[in-house]
Amino acid sequence: MVMHEPPRHIEWVGDAATGHLRLLDQTRLPAEIVWLDCRNVESVRRAIHRLSVRGAPAIGIAAAYGCVLGAQQRDAVAGFEAAAAHLATSRPTAVNLFQAIDRMKRCAAGVGDDAALPRRLLEEAQAIHEEDRAACRAIGEHALALLRELTDDRLALLTHCNAGALATGGIGTATAPMYLAAEQHLPISVFADETRPLLQGSRLTAWELAQAGIDVSIITDSAAATVMNQKCIAAVITGADRIAANGDVANKIGTYGLAVLARHHGLPFVVAAPTTTIDLNCACGEKIPIEHRAAEEITQGFGRATAPPGAAAFAPAFDVTPADLITAIVTERGVIRPVTAAALAAQFDSC
Ligand code: MRU
Repeated sequence: MVMHEPPRHIEWVGDAATGHLRLLDQTRLPAEIVWLDCRNVESVRRAIHRLSVRGAPAIGIAAAYGCVLGAQQRDAVAGFEAAAAHLATSRPTAVNLFQAIDRMKRCAAGVGDDAALPRRLLEEAQAIHEEDRAACRAIGEHALALLRELTDDRLALLTHCNAGALATGGIGTATAPMYLAAEQHLPISVFADETRPLLQGSRLTAWELAQAGIDVSIITDSAAATVMNQKCIAAVITGADRIAANGDVANKIGTYGLAVLARHHGLPFVVAAPTTTIDLNCACGEKIPIEHRAAEEITQGFGRATAPPGAAAFAPAFDVTPADLITAIVTERGVIRPVTAAALAAQFDSC
């Protein structure tokens, strides 16, 4: 069995005291492979905000490395604290960002010697990165078993946005069972929603799945109902940016519509995410902060006017899918099904 090696798109280069963060600029994919060398905190914040690095776990990993850059200042503690505060303003919805920053703060609080701070923070960032890599594989194993049970082995899946290797430190969340199915030579086919307005589905998901030799077809977001009605797929699987304590899920705008469609067509709707995406302090979906993006991302996407000058646009980047539309949530710890507050809490209690 050949293990798939996902693209290594987040990397620390050099030592803790003088090194820097290297990111694959996802805004340039699939046309160009361009690397961004982030040598200060602001460049990491900008990379997160402009979606050069994106996807909930990857945002958390990048922010953790960004904290190391802060601690490279002459006053390491003050530099770190300023970095943590600044990076927290980059994007509001993915809770992984805040979980990672809080973890870096706990790490910093335990370091007595300021001179040791960059090295300890780098070790912590690398641990966050490595743990996410392992979580992706465990999610893939649980999700593949679940999907085979739910779909009678017909692994024809629809996914939205990019919850893939490019969004994580490993083989993705929603894509993890796809990579594992391919590794095991199981027949697998994927429909990737192109994902308006920034096309993470066609630019990123189709790119990485095709590189792994997985059968992937891009559809416009508005074709999803037809794909379901024509029985082209057996299940929908997406990632998440934040999962509330009652199981409501915030993910890329359009996810909620897919869940409604899946329910109408009697199809399973599965969410795959690491436990770092679960926010037990957030009671329900209504409390999840939803990022709104600049109107130009809709009216002048990729630099070309697609609306009359001055046209207004409503641009939420995420929506909330209520728990009762979700068949199961799969984390690295196992499958939560049915999706209830008690089942979510139980998965935490069991560890
Ligand atoms: O705006 P993006 O590209 O950061 O949105 C990403 C998503 O919505 C993903 O589905 C989510 O972060 C999960 S990534 C494993």
